[in-house]
Amino acid sequence: MAKTSTLRLKFDSTRTLAPAPESKSIAKIAERYELFINGKFEKPASKKYFNTVNPATEEVLSKVAAANAADVDKVVMAARNAYNKVWGKMPGKERAKYIFRIARLIQERAREFAVIETLDGGKPIRESRDFDVPTAANHFFYYAGWADKLEYAFPNRNPQPLGVAGQIIPWNFPLLMAAWKIAPALACGNTVVLKPAETTPLTALKLAELIQEADLPPGVVNIITGAGDTGAALVNHPGINKVAFTGSTEVGKIIQKAVAGTGKKLTLELGGKAANIIFDDAPLDQAVEGVINGIFFNQGHVCCAGSRLLVQESVYKQVLQKLKDRLETLIVGDPMDKNTDIGAINSRQQLEVINKYIKIGQQEGAEMFQSSAVIPKKGFYCRPTLFTNVAQSNRIAQEEIFGPVLSIQTFRTEDEAIEKANNTPFGLSAGVWTDKGSKIFNMTSKLKAGVVWANTYNKFDPVSPFGGFKESGFGREGGLHGLGAYLKV
Ligand code: NAI
Ligand code: MG
Repeated sequence: MAKTSTLRLKFDSTRTLAPAPESKSIAKIAERYELFINGKFEKPASKKYFNTVNPATEEVLSKVAAANAADVDKVVMAARNAYNKVWGKMPGKERAKYIFRIARLIQERAREFAVIETLDGGKPIRESRDFDVPTAANHFFYYAGWADKLEYAFPNRNPQPLGVAGQIIPWNFPLLMAAWKIAPALACGNTVVLKPAETTPLTALKLAELIQEADLPPGVVNIITGAGDTGAALVNHPGINKVAFTGSTEVGKIIQKAVAGTGKKLTLELGGKAANIIFDDAPLDQAVEGVINGIFFNQGHVCCAGSRLLVQESVYKQVLQKLKDRLETLIVGDPMDKNTDIGAINSRQQLEVINKYIKIGQQEGAEMFQSSAVIPKKGFYCRPTLFTNVAQSNRIAQEEIFGPVLSIQTFRTEDEAIEKANNTPFGLSAGVWTDKGSKIFNMTSKLKAGVVWANTYNKFDPVSPFGGFKESGFGREGGLHGLGAYLKV
């Protein structure tokens, strides 16, 4: 027998992995998409269409209808009609069957959804396959279970649906955000008009096809496409009873003003500037991995991204070195490749925002470290970036960047960590890394954040409520709390 050579386990960052691209053949993308109104695809009254592109290659994937105010009027009427005549009266047990069917169909077509999500939005196929699509299906399964148990969720409070919900979602988790919005609304007996973001409309339109297949009564779920003006027309339409919005704090504020005094119920899930906090007693390798996942997951296009890191001074040097080493191993590039860790930035516009902040960080005197990854020439890409020597007042420590950029600061005591973590206009999430349970409990009670993860980060489950404080918005999605946003009690 030949002598075996010694196995070398050390990771060689110069090694290039053979490409492992996912096939596109399963993705059936039409050349043009119409508006999904009353169970049918209808041409827009506006007669206008816009392109949706693949941000990894800049290729046009499809043309999508741009709904105007007349289209919005029509779609709200369809949703109202379906609410009055069918869905609002249907027993919860029956509604549950439809929602359950949607969940099953998403599972059956999971690969197609994952591929289209990656092509349209730029996120790594590994994420859309292993996170976005299964979590979206889980959300429908979970809320299907509640549809006939609303009286148990709100005992002696006679929970009733609100009517028609207008729902506006962003581009960072297109299918998953559609699920977060549609599933609880349907479970509670409301009908829906959903508007996906203009850069990522395709999985919502695929969902419309699936909803047709699931035989949902016409008008219960309607999906219209368009940009901010379409969203504004929906928010301002007098025929809706509820507005649910996820997106920028800027637009959230506009919507809050528009809805004030109208009697429409409102939930807003806006931006964040979350801190991951590493104490010197934390398992450091695990913490570093969590921080990397927290900010580079989905190119940092995550409202609850751990975009700040607070490290206890005594372990700062060690943690920084580990972070830099790990950064160098991250693979940036083709999102369809299963090896890719960091895919494409969602749009040219968002890439410009991120690059602007990278400049601001340098001008503010922070020290920059970027990975030496080679990035593709075509498409929108950004190297993973760290900033050290960051002051609390720096814009890169205060403002949402929504890209793969981490601002690092140090602290000495628990109180200082809490003070720094809370000192931004946002309050969506935070992460704590320590070996001590008592420290975790102390921190979680004092951090002003809707979600605090301990010794992990970016973990989601339909059962857990999610949402923020301060400029991160209000209202909760997920879990029993998520039902409350769609009911009169
Ligand atoms: P955006 O808030 O403009 O877009 C989100 C959704 O709102 C899209 O569907 C859009 O068409 C719609 N919209 C825009 N203007 C509207 C209006 N006046 N009325 C009703 N709907 C309207 O976000 P954008 O411009 O894509 O991204 C800007 C920044 O927002 C990002 O850099 C990031 O910091 C933040 N953001 C936060 C998200 C979150 O999950 N919290 C998601 C997306 C962006
Ligand atoms: Mg696109």
